[in-house]
Amino acid sequence: MAPQIIALLGSPRPKGNTAKLMEEAVRGIRDAGCRVEVVSVPRLKLSSCKEIFYCQNHADCGMKDDVTPFFEKFREIDGLIIATPVMTMGIPGALKSFMDRFQVFFMAKYIRKEPLVSPAKKKHRKTLLLSIGGLNIEDDFDGVIASTKAFCDIIDCRYWDAVLQNNMDEIIDITTRPEVMKAAYDKGFRMGELITLDMAKNLPE
Ligand SMILES: Cc1cc2nc3c(=O)[nH]c(=O)nc-3n(C[C@H](O)[C@H](O)[C@H](O)COP(=O)(O)O)c2cc1C
Repeated sequence: MAPQIIALLGSPRPKGNTAKLMEEAVRGIRDAGCRVEVVSVPRLKLSSCKEIFYCQNHADCGMKDDVTPFFEKFREIDGLIIATPVMTMGIPGALKSFMDRFQVFFMAKYIRKEPLVSPAKKKHRKTLLLSIGGLNIEDDFDGVIASTKAFCDIIDCRYWDAVLQNNMDEIIDITTRPEVMKAAYDKGFRMGELITLDMAKNLPE
């Protein structure tokens, strides 16, 4: 079966620069034979984690909203693309709230020692991060990368690689940087190839 990928868009602009970059990575990974579900996270109806700690003792979240179906989907996916602008030096609120809700996976993995992701899936799951920021500063992506790496650990989907472009306030339109668009396509394609290869290696004899 074709590898299943989820692509999370953190930007509220469906035709913004983050979305354009993500489209390239999605095109690449589809060309590599993967199936992709694109999720515009700011369009979901979701609440931030209320710390009711239902997930301390359950393999599910006590809060029911548009995040609910993703707990099951995130057990099954073979790869993840996260595409996000930098906002206030980190991941924008809706996407960050979506990620925080995966405390369900944290509790299962680290507290109860009953991970929700099978050892076979864990072996080949990979994440590609795409991020853009307006400012021309060196540490622009530190917050985004730190949160993404923590999330990847929690959901057992290894942080594999990234395409990062700051200085968007001057660049304005990401399509004027064909090398960045190409990097997104190439890394999407490569991650798809690697996941497919790794899945084939892990098939039962
Ligand atoms: C609320 C808000 C906060 C932002 N904070 C930052 C920031 O801390 N650092 C930065 O480099 N850019 C920041 N930006 C700029 C965005 O990262 C930039 O405009 C990006 O290109 C937007 O992506 P989009 O075209 O997908 O909407 C911010 C933009 C908004 C709207």
